[in-house]
Amino acid sequence: MSEPERRPDFETRQIHAGSTVDSDVHARITPIYQTAGYLFESFDDGEDLFAGRSTRRAYSRNDNPTNAIAARRLADLEGGVDGVVVASGQAAIAAALFGLAQAGDHILVTQSLYEGTREMFRGSLKRQGLDVEYVADAATDEEWASHFRPTTRAVYTETLPNPLNQVSDIERLARLAHDGGVPLVVDNTVPTPFLERPIEHGADIVIHSTSKWLAGHGAVIGGAIVDGGTFDWAANADRFPQLTESSREGVPSYVERFGNAAYGAYLRAVILLEYGPTVPPTSTFLLLAGIETLSLRMERHVTNAQQVAEWLEGRPEVGRVLYPGLTSSDYHELAQKYLPLGAGSVVTIDLAGGRPAARRFIDALRLVSPMTHIGDVRTLAIHLGSTIHGKLTEPERLDAGITPGLIRLSIGLESARDIIADLERALDAAATSETT
Ligand SMILES: Cc1ncc(COP(=O)(O)O)c(C=O)c1O
Repeated sequence: MSEPERRPDFETRQIHAGSTVDSDVHARITPIYQTAGYLFESFDDGEDLFAGRSTRRAYSRNDNPTNAIAARRLADLEGGVDGVVVASGQAAIAAALFGLAQAGDHILVTQSLYEGTREMFRGSLKRQGLDVEYVADAATDEEWASHFRPTTRAVYTETLPNPLNQVSDIERLARLAHDGGVPLVVDNTVPTPFLERPIEHGADIVIHSTSKWLAGHGAVIGGAIVDGGTFDWAANADRFPQLTESSREGVPSYVERFGNAAYGAYLRAVILLEYGPTVPPTSTFLLLAGIETLSLRMERHVTNAQQVAEWLEGRPEVGRVLYPGLTSSDYHELAQKYLPLGAGSVVTIDLAGGRPAARRFIDALRLVSPMTHIGDVRTLAIHLGSTIHGKLTEPERLDAGITPGLIRLSIGLESARDIIADLERALDAAATSETT
């Protein structure tokens, strides 16, 4: 008897998963299908396409072959059943939540999140009528349970929150979300599926800014949503009628048509079609080129980040190093559980000299690029209080953990020796007094 076929390893799937070879040209690399739409074969074919009775493509706003291959590859790497790619990480967050919630609904979120996400929650999503409620990091299970309402539609978190690196306990959050009858939505941008796969820990929906490590080269903006296929929509039908009820007489519901892949199908057929957050296939082509080398880059990112973080810990100018790969980190134990291959490559430091030291540090960098972005092959640095968190008041910043000396480093793929040499120069400059 022959052995059951072994699932290829991550390193193999990051190159091959989801790809198809077109029957005419036999191009080895996924081509850029730069087309707005696709020919109908006949009058009836057009009608069938619009009625959802055909699996052929109609229009690139929600269905483009280059994009479909990237979406399938990411779904495969995350261990999900379906995926979509969209124009940016922000678009992915908005689209994922629009697929779950409507005006008057409520979403529970953890405190430590990317500031762009927090800004969307307190700005545009609030204006759309979504009530986003933060739950304190220290909340007990009972306190969490007390926050759920009949209108709650999701629990939202980040696996390794940007920029404070407070590793999330995904298994616990998944249990709490499921007890409350809603899916757990996780932004997994910082670890990427190479370092952590939240669906394996109970998450239901995974979001990415593909602009970061997944693409890796810093050349494109993009986003993705992966449907884990794990959430039981039918068992929570009153909360998700868009998936469990028929929208038109004679048309079965998404759950009836697509089973556990109902959410991904709904995103593509409704949210992407109606809102149109389309990513250009040229961008997706570059994303696919990046994903092919993800494991190699992540291995180097985490060894560089660990080395840099350990070196920074020994420097007197640095008050704190927020990196869960350090044994001194409060999140080291969780990192060992969820991120056994490495704790990502965002290393955030708090300069003892506060904002004046941060100014001198940033202005002294030569190799490291001062800019907003993370997950690039280049090492990047940003002073958070004056940029990403600049719109907040000082008390709001402190409440969000953004102290005046906080600098986020995204450790790249240069030699660790060269990165450290540049940081050393900048720390020396940070230590000089204003008057010298
Ligand atoms: C964790 C996280 N999620 C989402 C985003 C938004 O992604 P994008 O810039 O691709 O819109 C970012 C951007 O920095 C991020 O760090």
